[in-house]
Amino acid sequence: MPLTLPPLSLYIHLPWCVAKCPYCDFNSHALSGDLPEQAYVEALMADLELDLPRVWGRTVHSVFFGGGTPSLFSARAIGQVIDGASARLKLAPNAEITMEANPGTVEHDRFEAYRAAGVNRISLGVQTFDDDQLRTLGRIHDGTQAGRAIGALIDAGFDNFNLDLMWALPGQTVEQALTDVEKALAFDPPHVSHYQLTLEPNTVFAARPPTLPDEETVWAMQDACGERLSAVGYENYEISAWAKPNHASRHNLNYWRFGDYLGIGAGASGKITLPAEDAVLRTRRKKIPHSWMAATGDNSFIAEQVHVAKEELAFEYMLNRTRLSEPIPVAGFAALTGLSIDALEPGLGRAIESGLLERREPVGGATPTDADEAGYLIRTERGAQYLNDLQALFLPG
Ligand SMILES: C[S@@+](CC[C@H](N)C(=O)[O-])C[C@H]1O[C@@H](n2cnc3c(N)ncnc32)[C@H](O)[C@@H]1O
Ligand code: SF4
Repeated sequence: MPLTLPPLSLYIHLPWCVAKCPYCDFNSHALSGDLPEQAYVEALMADLELDLPRVWGRTVHSVFFGGGTPSLFSARAIGQVIDGASARLKLAPNAEITMEANPGTVEHDRFEAYRAAGVNRISLGVQTFDDDQLRTLGRIHDGTQAGRAIGALIDAGFDNFNLDLMWALPGQTVEQALTDVEKALAFDPPHVSHYQLTLEPNTVFAARPPTLPDEETVWAMQDACGERLSAVGYENYEISAWAKPNHASRHNLNYWRFGDYLGIGAGASGKITLPAEDAVLRTRRKKIPHSWMAATGDNSFIAEQVHVAKEELAFEYMLNRTRLSEPIPVAGFAALTGLSIDALEPGLGRAIESGLLERREPVGGATPTDADEAGYLIRTERGAQYLNDLQALFLPG
């Protein structure tokens, strides 16, 4: 089955933070000394050049500055990257351009400058409005600063923004988790990412685990917060993502729909479909910021570049797609993996038997589309609840 090109996005990793949070396993590093801003921007451009021949003529629909703390970079530097990327790539005129920001590193004028530089969506790492919890989480901001940063980005004219909240925090009660949701809702955010705190290997929290809420409290929190967000019109379109209608993150949706993305900057991953080679390429950059920067001098910054094995493609497709609440088109699976739906067996049969997925037959009608013809897989409520079990059914081998 021939591979089809999905939409293309661009991810840009900016790896520094003021301090490393004890729960965080992202490729982020506490900044010591001056930010090597200009050198990093130049390295990003050298990095991007290498991938260009693989995506000639394709349009980039979204750009995401992630971190680390991208808001440590000046608006001038962010603008240089956006301009540099649009000089080298075909950027859609209405492309979604998101930048992650930390409430401890932004003030009013900066948001205006980011907007002028071309950023049109902000993702703000609030986590919680509770000062005690913020201290436990090692954050550099307090609840008042979080509120002020949200006010500032709204004042600066950002009508598209996301607030990151974490829940199931050490010692947190259901009421406290709900209070955070309520405080976030007071700002009428178009999008809320509501992440359950997880203890990640190789973090301070993994080495010295705090006491987390018990399982029963976790379920109750999830229900209570979910009910509240649904009641005021947010759709839980992805396991941790809630959006008002038409405000889902286009960039993240493209990941979860198994789209393509260029990943540039220290430690960034990319995925590029190459129909002529009947392959999907995975790329990963060197992780340590200064090693990656130095390596852009002689194009030795790639840590890994592999054609994804067919059985892994099937797994990766399901790993991403099952995060979404929308139906999974059988035709889409074939188009983006080059495989027939049979490649999902025996996992698919087991998922249906155990009520984690359902098969929806073609809708039919006068002019059924190809997608309709092949039908859909629907993640059930149980499938959402036991997502890890569902995904594990598609593990290769
Ligand atoms: C790269 S950070 C966002 C921007 C910025 N660095 C910040 O933290 O404000 C992405 C988000 O992932 C979430 N996150 C990070 N580590 C997590 C963990 N161990 N469990 C749950 N969520 C986590 C946080 O909500 C964080 O805002
Ligand atoms: S500020 Fe964000 S990226 Fe940086 S260490 Fe904390 S959670 Fe991780």
